[in-house]
Amino acid sequence: MKGKLVIVMVGLPARGKSTMARKLGRTLEMDGVRVRIFNNGELRRKLDTDLSTSSSEFFSPANVQGKEMRERISQLNIEQAQGFLQDSGEVAIIDASNVTRERRRNIDAAFPDLPMVYVECVNADEEALEANLERKASLKEFNHLSREKALESFVRRINYYESIYEPLDEESNRILVDSFDSCILQERISEVLPYYDRIRDIITTRVVRNLYLVRHGETYYNREDRLGGDSDLTERGLDQANALAEHFATIRIPIIFTSNHKRTLQTATPIAERQQPCSIIALPEFNEINAGVCEHMTYAEVRRQMPQVARERGPNKYRYVYPEGEGYATMEERVHRGLKKVFFLNNYDENIMIVGHRAVNRMILSSFLSRQEAEIPYIYMPQDRYYHIQIDPHKRIFELIPYRSVATAGIGW
Ligand code: F6P
Repeated sequence: MKGKLVIVMVGLPARGKSTMARKLGRTLEMDGVRVRIFNNGELRRKLDTDLSTSSSEFFSPANVQGKEMRERISQLNIEQAQGFLQDSGEVAIIDASNVTRERRRNIDAAFPDLPMVYVECVNADEEALEANLERKASLKEFNHLSREKALESFVRRINYYESIYEPLDEESNRILVDSFDSCILQERISEVLPYYDRIRDIITTRVVRNLYLVRHGETYYNREDRLGGDSDLTERGLDQANALAEHFATIRIPIIFTSNHKRTLQTATPIAERQQPCSIIALPEFNEINAGVCEHMTYAEVRRQMPQVARERGPNKYRYVYPEGEGYATMEERVHRGLKKVFFLNNYDENIMIVGHRAVNRMILSSFLSRQEAEIPYIYMPQDRYYHIQIDPHKRIFELIPYRSVATAGIGW
């Protein structure tokens, strides 16, 4: 046994605290540590009360009843964590905003003899934050509101928290984490803490519980072997989308990430319809490689009309950049940024699905596979199978799994 530890999360709503808490909890659990998360929000939603605890006014610092109730919830969770640690529990993670010093001194006082570390999550990426707000506004607790009203209410809630926010400063063990970039911005640790090396590893490592990487179904352009464009799915493509929906019907997928192109959205739609609930988040970072002057042409036309493209691209496909377009190498940054958004937004759910394109999916896959540059543009990316990826500190799995359908053409050069 390594000892006991209290981890206290800190941060404004929608800054990735719960995702980080779950990642810490699950990985430590896999190490054999007895760990439990005590989440104030979950407890609030479970408690039967006359107060409307999801309305923004509940969170106003001027709302005496609301404040009392929030403190009571915090106290309840602290007591449960104390009980867990007095029993056989080893690591308690207190997952709440904990934005005031007063609240944090309360927590300190509750665990006088145990080592404690505060983990403050910030996120400087505006786009990811906005997307996270959208996702939060679509959660069950806002079901009774329209999308705009839900968003408004959630933003007001955050503003209330912001008005009383006191970042970590006097806590003797504290880490400041950028939860979008999964990196440690600052740390101050003044004693030897159990599990600390592991915690730093978990914070900075990407863990993929189950990633289903799917290529969109067959399009009219695929049938003609044309590059790029924004074409619709063919009958067969729709059939593939329905087959995927059937295949994944019993696997819980809360969010499907796509590009902005119709073909990925049309593939994701039937899959989402079989899931309850499931949101589709379209990320421009996952749009297919821009073939510039060659967009809309067939591979054969490119070979005939622009032989220099085929000649130059062949031997150096990864580094080649289409005139007025992109190459694999120049796409890398945006695709990785899309992946960061996925991991930030997926709330550490068990299953993630991305419906992407041939070149984009190759880039996504390569970021987990560490393949040689020259191999990446040739990774097999069929439309009748998908990749299943699992990465955690204990194992790595990559499988190409078929679902019911027929393979399509599209060879490239
Ligand atoms: O043909 C479909 C497609 O997604 C095109 O839009 C894209 O240009 C191409 O595949 C990428 O594959 P490759 O790099 O092998 O040409």
